[in-house]
Amino acid sequence: MHRSIFSPCGTAERKANFEEYWTHLTARSGELLEEERDLTKKKARLAHYRENPVRSRRPLPDPGAFHRNSARLTDDPAAVEPVALLLANIFRFAYHEWSAVSEGWVSTVPLAKARTVQERITRLHCCEEICHGRLFLEMMRTFRLEGLEWPPVDPATARAYRVIPRLPEALLSQAALIAELLGVVFYRHVDSLFDDLLQEEPEARDRVRELLDDIMADELSHIGLRRNFLGPVGVRLTPRLVAPLCGWFFGEMLGNMPEGRRPMDNAVMVEEALAFHYEGLRPALLERAWVPSYCRGGGA
Ligand SMILES: [Fe+2]
Ligand SMILES: [Fe+2]
Repeated sequence: MHRSIFSPCGTAERKANFEEYWTHLTARSGELLEEERDLTKKKARLAHYRENPVRSRRPLPDPGAFHRNSARLTDDPAAVEPVALLLANIFRFAYHEWSAVSEGWVSTVPLAKARTVQERITRLHCCEEICHGRLFLEMMRTFRLEGLEWPPVDPATARAYRVIPRLPEALLSQAALIAELLGVVFYRHVDSLFDDLLQEEPEARDRVRELLDDIMADELSHIGLRRNFLGPVGVRLTPRLVAPLCGWFFGEMLGNMPEGRRPMDNAVMVEEALAFHYEGLRPALLERAWVPSYCRGGGA
């Protein structure tokens, strides 16, 4: 039985948890390849997927629907072919993240100059997210959406993203934890839609689930990591920010469509972010993830 991510924790325990996380991170993702913006184990994993490609049995019936909606939701989602819509939603969400971490990479401290374990972790965390961007493109290729790249970030957005990592830690930590939470909630919905929508594409479904599991195991670890950055004030304030920030973000990403016409139910996802708990996650996924010491074992 795990404890809530907002369980209390003292300074010494947080410090020990950063050290423990660093060990987990390097064991799981490998060494940083600074120039390549890559990690050795992530690179090997992507090479494995590329060398053993899986493609859907049939092309998407309407690939144009994916392309029209991948940057922003332009069609009425109720009228879009569901697999194309799901892939467009994943792409849009992942592109947002790719943009943020690509710009964040510019403003985080390179590993050789990192003085603290937190700075080392932040550099590798940023790189892990960049590696996720590559896995998401692999997901698109599984559905024969070849040759996609992430569009360049517009200059105003890029500037905003470069400022975020320089915000005071107290502010940044709360927003960063919520960003990780809403990511996991979104990916869990994606995961359940794979079962609903891909019954006639079992090989492609298994491959995209494998890719998503690689991503989710990291993202679950990021939740614990970003929780570990919070002091007592952050632990008190962050739960109050979950609903407004998640609600705003899901609206931006997935559209504020009338009830029943949305591709995913934003209100349900906000509820799930508020109720996030390690209990209820697939055990196979949870055992690949890192959980802070103060959230392991014990009561609710
Ligand atoms: Fe991520
Ligand atoms: Fe993350």
